Amino acid sequence: MQIPPIIFGTFQYGSLDELYPMVRSAYENGIAGFDTSPSYNTEEFLGSALSKLCSSAGIQRDRLLIQDKVDGWQMEESKGRIANYVKHSIAKLQSKYIDVLFIHWPFPEYLAETWQAFAELKKAGWVKKIGLSNVRHRHVENLLKETGVMPDVIQIERHPLRICKEDVEYFKKKGFIVEAYSPVCRMDERLVESEVLNKIAHKYNKTIGQVILRWHIDTGVVPVFMTKKESRVAENVNIFDFSLPIEEVEKISSLDINYKIFVESVCCPGI
Ligand SMILES: NC(=O)c1ccc[n+]([C@@H]2O[C@H](COP(=O)([O-])OP(=O)(O)OC[C@H]3O[C@@H](n4cnc5c(N)ncnc54)[C@H](OP(=O)(O)O)[C@@H]3O)[C@@H](O)[C@H]2O)c1
Repeated sequence: MQIPPIIFGTFQYGSLDELYPMVRSAYENGIAGFDTSPSYNTEEFLGSALSKLCSSAGIQRDRLLIQDKVDGWQMEESKGRIANYVKHSIAKLQSKYIDVLFIHWPFPEYLAETWQAFAELKKAGWVKKIGLSNVRHRHVENLLKETGVMPDVIQIERHPLRICKEDVEYFKKKGFIVEAYSPVCRMDERLVESEVLNKIAHKYNKTIGQVILRWHIDTGVVPVFMTKKESRVAENVNIFDFSLPIEEVEKISSLDINYKIFVESVCCPGI
């Protein structure tokens, strides 16, 4: 399964009843990729929702892509020997494997050990692709030096207020797929009120959200978005009938102020 062009995130869902209609709607709107993490407490809901979707719509599991993560406390408790946690996650997801498994945050302790365990899980077929989240290129370079294990995918916070130019260029040059989480920056007011975005949205008769998601696609990055509204799923995938010329891509990129929702020193001390 290749990484699809846009992925549905499951952060902040409190029940299967809340998640299932969104998962179904995402699939009906052409989304095949779903993102979760132990810390979202949605692995079980996502597993049940996808299994319900597969049986009701006659879909094979291998038509869907599931991304999961290993959290800092799991790295710490197991001293990097995280295989049992991952197998437990796979069971919660009602699957036989995880398509993409990320280290959620590069906590310095047991990072190399965890990454080595990822390589072994991939070799054994428990996970198809391995990835690093919330990393900068120095983390990747250090891990490569220490372990020689290449990531397949990188997932970082990225949106027009934080474009991560150098890191994205470095990751792409290395051949890694780059995913953007919080891709519309939770529709920060500075984006809603941006003259640049409003003008471009007006020109293409699109919403600001659609323009931002298209900017990710046009800069070669896969957005991982979240919504609790079914109508917004349809809105957020309706971005494949237009594209932004380089001048507009650059104008949007110029909104960068290196603003981050998830402050690194708080989320991952020692990063
Ligand atoms: N690796 C990590 O550390 C990490 C961290 C955070 C998130 N993630 C992943 O990324 C996913 C998305 O992250 P996120 O929720 O922080 O960011 P987001 O997708 O940028 O923001 C979601 C919020 O923006 C609104 N929204 C979405 N599309 C919109 C549009 N077109 N117009 C206006 N508002 C829109 C949604 O509101 P409505 O519900 O009203 O539509 C929702 O409140 C998560 O679910 C998770 O899977 C990963």
